Order: sequence, then structure tokens, then C-alpha cells
Amino acid sequence: MKHLIFFSLLLSLSCAGYAQTGEPKNIRIATDHTDLVLQVPENGRLYQVYFGEKLRHEADLDNLGWQVHPASDGSAVARGWEVYSGSGNEDFFEPALAVTHTDGNPSTYLYYVSHRSKPVDGGTQTDIVLRDDRYPLEVTLHYVAYAEEDVIKTWSDISHKEKGSVFLSAYASTMLYFSAGSYYLTEFSSDWAKEAQMSTQPLRPGKKVLDTKLGSRAAMHMHPFFLLGIGQPADEGQGQVLIGTLGWTGNFRFTFEVDNVGNLRVIPAINPYASRYELKRGETFTTPEFIFTLSRQGTGQGSRNLQAWARRYQLKDGQEPRLTLLNNWENTGFNFNQDLLAGLMKEAKDLGVDMFLLDDGWFANKYPRQNDRAGLGDWEVNRNKLPGGIAALTDAAREAGVKFGLWIEPEMVNPKSELFEQHPEWAIHYPNRKTYYYRNQLVLDLSNPDVQDYVYGAVDRLLSENPGIAYFKWDCNSPITNIYSPYLKERQGQLYIDHVRGIYRVLQRLQAKYPHLPMMLCSGGGARCDYEALKYFTEFWCSDNTDPVERLYIQWGFSHIFPANAMCAHVTNWNRTASVKFRTDVASMCKLGFDIGLHELSTEELEYCRQAVANWKQLQPAIMDGTQYRLVSPYQGNHMAVNYVSADRDTAVLFAYDIHPRYQEKLLPVRLQGLDPDKLYRVEEINLMPGARPALKAHGKTLSGDYLMKVGMEVFTFGSMQSHVVRLTAQ
Ligand code: GLA
Repeated sequence: MKHLIFFSLLLSLSCAGYAQTGEPKNIRIATDHTDLVLQVPENGRLYQVYFGEKLRHEADLDNLGWQVHPASDGSAVARGWEVYSGSGNEDFFEPALAVTHTDGNPSTYLYYVSHRSKPVDGGTQTDIVLRDDRYPLEVTLHYVAYAEEDVIKTWSDISHKEKGSVFLSAYASTMLYFSAGSYYLTEFSSDWAKEAQMSTQPLRPGKKVLDTKLGSRAAMHMHPFFLLGIGQPADEGQGQVLIGTLGWTGNFRFTFEVDNVGNLRVIPAINPYASRYELKRGETFTTPEFIFTLSRQGTGQGSRNLQAWARRYQLKDGQEPRLTLLNNWENTGFNFNQDLLAGLMKEAKDLGVDMFLLDDGWFANKYPRQNDRAGLGDWEVNRNKLPGGIAALTDAAREAGVKFGLWIEPEMVNPKSELFEQHPEWAIHYPNRKTYYYRNQLVLDLSNPDVQDYVYGAVDRLLSENPGIAYFKWDCNSPITNIYSPYLKERQGQLYIDHVRGIYRVLQRLQAKYPHLPMMLCSGGGARCDYEALKYFTEFWCSDNTDPVERLYIQWGFSHIFPANAMCAHVTNWNRTASVKFRTDVASMCKLGFDIGLHELSTEELEYCRQAVANWKQLQPAIMDGTQYRLVSPYQGNHMAVNYVSADRDTAVLFAYDIHPRYQEKLLPVRLQGLDPDKLYRVEEINLMPGARPALKAHGKTLSGDYLMKVGMEVFTFGSMQSHVVRLTAQ
């Protein structure tokens, strides 16, 4: 009783100026299988009261209540699971929002004002308006629930009408709460050539933070996504798991905080590091989208939710075909000329791929791009190397019968460039300290609208002068170094955030003018891999590490978040001890490309590659557009297997790999998933070296989907770096 009296007093105080809402008001954000229920109780604030498996009976929502946790002295505190908790209120844990108001007051209490829902492409959008009762500061929470895919994305708008500027020092996209006996976090750590490395740890009381402070190339050391196992570590086939990812191509921060009573809050946000953001009266601060799915059938189902959602609603042209390609980077580096490239284009055609992609080294004249020490910023063709300009290259590609793609890195500048000579103030660097360099380059200050115009103009000029350019590989090889914007001057707190917004502005303008130009997002490998950038890019480069053994882990990791048609994988000469077949079979699980001197291949290897390209193209409905099932994890043994099934379940493909098996280790059959149990499938081992006989025992048989899923096939061997690709065709 004592609790209740104290609690009511607190509520009536905090509700001053606000009408009592009477009955608790429920706001239901629902997909086909998940409910996120928010409630406005009598105190007029907004709390999460349920997040879990969808409730069958609407009436049950009224039985949900918000928790009040007794304090240790026996009194009660009005601490519930506030959806967008402000700093300085009665909650003693990490807030979503921290604002210093114009009068210096650092507290924010947000009260429910209104909400409404409307249908949007693929789902239902709910917007909830909250307002502080003492300051003219408003937050609108947005949720889009994609019913069929079981995905929810959420972001928030912060704005105010105070007399001057307010300062934001925390600005989360949202908050989610869990109450369970244990929590396990799987993170995806990274570095150059070591992307998407998975590791799992239990979350204990206190905070665990995943973040980066790299500015650009911001996912280099940690990727902006995680798996959260509820009650058990995330498991592929069973158990409850939240998969979450932030769409932000800059510094991010996920905070996982287990509080005094063992509840967990998850706070996805832009990293506020060095970013005390000045928000002017009337301006709106829009947070990035946090995208999540809550699976009760383990990570496999969660990934399939995200993959299906991304292709339909987020990834640029996510349901359009992808271009196979031959790239020249690993083959020629910076050493090429027009004739050599024209020869490679013919080789690309002979291989059967759709496009030739010219990489780094084609530009700049005063400071030619002979190596990575000069030229970035000067985006005109190098006349010595390529006297006929890009036009001669696009002509040669047309003659060869392939498309032409081009590498650019437009957000960067080498100090040895005409651009830097003309505009040193466009580069982010300290005015009063010795400049340090990452890959001999500096990051252009995209918070500056003039720089945005320059970058947009450079790319636009390339495209408008050379309509034959069919594709860009857009690179970003440096984090932000020397973190000072000459443009922002005393407002340096905006730099990390406004820089990223500047990049989006450039990309938006390009997308408006060239809406369907396919582009690869690259960042010294996979240091840019987020769902905001992927609104503008059809795919991303997973890693410069193309050693097929390493790629099994890297691609396995990224597949938790992204569909195969967003992930580029190329056959190269990394790890020559692996056969060309093994390398190609590994790359065939994603968007296939080659970055290898084809003349180095034997006649048989080349013939094998041609066949593999043709097979891959035939299997696109399964690999690129179908559903993926991770079957055997490389993290759990010496093998890996994945199968893909087309939407009509008529075509499927199984990729199975032996990495470095132990002597006479136990080999288990691989049971497929996602097939139609009542269909009969013809089983064929494909991607065989010329003259090689199929090793698969089931080759040539017709087996039911039921059998293949319950009994499976023996595909693993004791051989090191062996692979088997099996096509299943419904009869
Ligand atoms: C980055 C990319 C590579 C290549 C080089 C060119 O490292 O990841 O694929 O394009 O830049 O400099």
C-alpha cells in the first residue's frame, strides 16, 4: 500500500499540465508472428509492456501492465520500461535521449501526445508523438512493421521550439527491453581482411557496448549488427533470438545494459562520441533506422526474415538480376593500358560474365594515380594510360559484348592532387597539428555543401559524359583522420553526423538522376555494410580477403544479416593451394565475380569456370532470389554447407565444403531444408572439372524433398578444401 501511495503521488506530480488518460492506452506494433506492445498508463508516459510472440487475443492486451520495480528500501519507484527514456528522470540506467535545454537543464520527461497508423509499402507505419511537459521539445517515434517478413524498423525524430539551440548528447533510434534468465550476445567483429568474425558471450549486470569511432569506413572494426540470444545463446535452428542492425554509415553504438533486477535494455544509436550535437530551433534530428526481427525458431529463420525483407523493401533493386563480372584489381593492380583492358574485356566475354570492371588507377594527370600515394580527387581519365578516354573503353566493351563498370573513391583526396592544391579546406584535417594519414589520403568534408556538390558533380560528369558506364564500384579506403572540419569551425560536434548525412545527400541526388545504376559498396573490403547505404547500393564487397577458406567464415557471418544478392564474392589467387574449383564454388554462394588473370588458368580450369558461370546464372532464381538455409556451420567443425531454394521450390542448390577435416573423423549426411516434401527432385552434382566423374553417391537419382530433408545426402569427404555443388530440380 505504501508503494502505491508513493507511486500515485509521483505520477500526479509528473503529470502536471497533462490530462489523465484514464484507461491505459495500448499501441500495438505487430507482424504476423511478433507483437511489440506499448502502453500509456495513467502517468501519461509511454512504456513497453510486451515484446514477444504474437498474442492471439486482442483482449489480452488489456491485461498487460507495466512493471514497477520495488526499490531495496521497500518503497516503490516509478520506473517502467520507458520506450524513449530521457536523461535526468527517475530511471537510473542508460537513457535513449539526453538533451541540455537552453537554460542548462539536462532533464527530459516525455509524455504521450498522439499516435496514428497508416499502411505503407509492405507494412504498417505507426507514428507516436511525445512531448516534454516543461520544454517545447518533441520526439516522434516511427515504427514500420512488415507483417509477412516479421521485421520491424524504427527511428525517431527529435525537434524543439526553445528560444535558442539545445544540445543533444544521446539520440538513440529506440530502446527495447527484455526480461529473461540469461542473455547472450553474438557480435561481428572485423578488421581489414577479417570481416564478420562471430563470437558469443553472456551479458552480465552492467553494460556491454559495441561501437566504432571511425567516421567513414565505419564498420571496419565492428559491424553494425548483432544477434541476441534470449535465455540461451543464439542457435541456428531453435530458440528465441533478436537480430538487430542499424542503418548508419558512420559511428554507431549498441548498448546492452543488464540492470539491478536482471532486465536487459538494448539501445541502438549513432555513437555520440565527440558529437554533442547542436540542434537549432525548428530543426529536426532524425535518427537512423534500427531494423530488427525476433525469431522463435533460431537464427536461421531470423536471417531469412531479414533477407526477404531487404530484397523487397530496402536493398537497391533488391529483386532485380545482378551482373557477374571480371575485375582487374588482383590481376593488374595499377599497371594497365587501353589495349590490355580491351583484351581483358574479350576474356570476360569468353568466360561468360556480364561485365568488365576497371578498378583503381585510371585517373588523374598532374599527379597520376600510379599507386595509392596520389591522384584521389582528380576524376578525369589519365591520358597517358588511356589516351582514348573512357569512351574508348566503353566502345571496346561494347565490341567485346560485355558491360563496363568503373571504380571510384569520390569521398577522398590525396594531398598529392590538384583538388587538394585548389581546396585544402575541403579535406578534414587539423588546422594546428601535424597531419597523419591512412593510406596516404584524407577524407573530404561532406558536411560542407560545396564538397557535396563537387563529389556529386564528379560522379555525375563521369556518367553523363560516358553513358556506357553501367556500374560503379564505390570505394572508401580511409576512416576519418585528423578529426576537424574547416567548414564547421566551432561546431565540430556536428562533424561525424553531418558528414554521413552529406554522403547520403550526394547518393540521393545520384539515385534521383540514375535510379537503376547498379553500384557496389566497397570499403577496403567490407568496412561498409549497413542497410542505409544499401538503399543506394545493389551490393557490397564482403572482404579483400578472397582466400576461399576465410571466405567461408566471412560469408557465413554476413549471411546472418544480408541476402546473397547483396554480397559480392570473387574468384582470385588468394590461397593458390586451393583449387580453382574450390575457390569458384565458394564464390558461387554469393554474387559471383572473378578477379584473376584468366591466362594463368589451365585450359581445364578455364573450361570449368565457364561452366560454373553458366550454372550460376541458371541457378540465380535459387541463389540470388530464393531462400537460404544454413545447414552446417564452419564454426562448429571442419565442414560447411548451405542450400538455397527458389520461391516455387522447383530448383534448389546445395553447396558443401570440406575445410581441413581430421583423420577419419565422423562424417554426417547433410539434411537439406526448405524443399517441398512432396516433390521429387533430380539430384545432379554440377561444377565438375572437365572429365571428372561425380563423386556424389546420390548423383543421378530422383529423391523426394521429404527424403532429402529427413535422411539427407552424403556430401562431405575427408579431403582438404574440397567442394560439392548439387543441383536439385523438381520433376
Ligand atoms: C580497396 C578495395 C579493393 C581495391 C582497392 C583499390 O582496397 O577493397 O578491392 O578496389 O581498394 O585501391
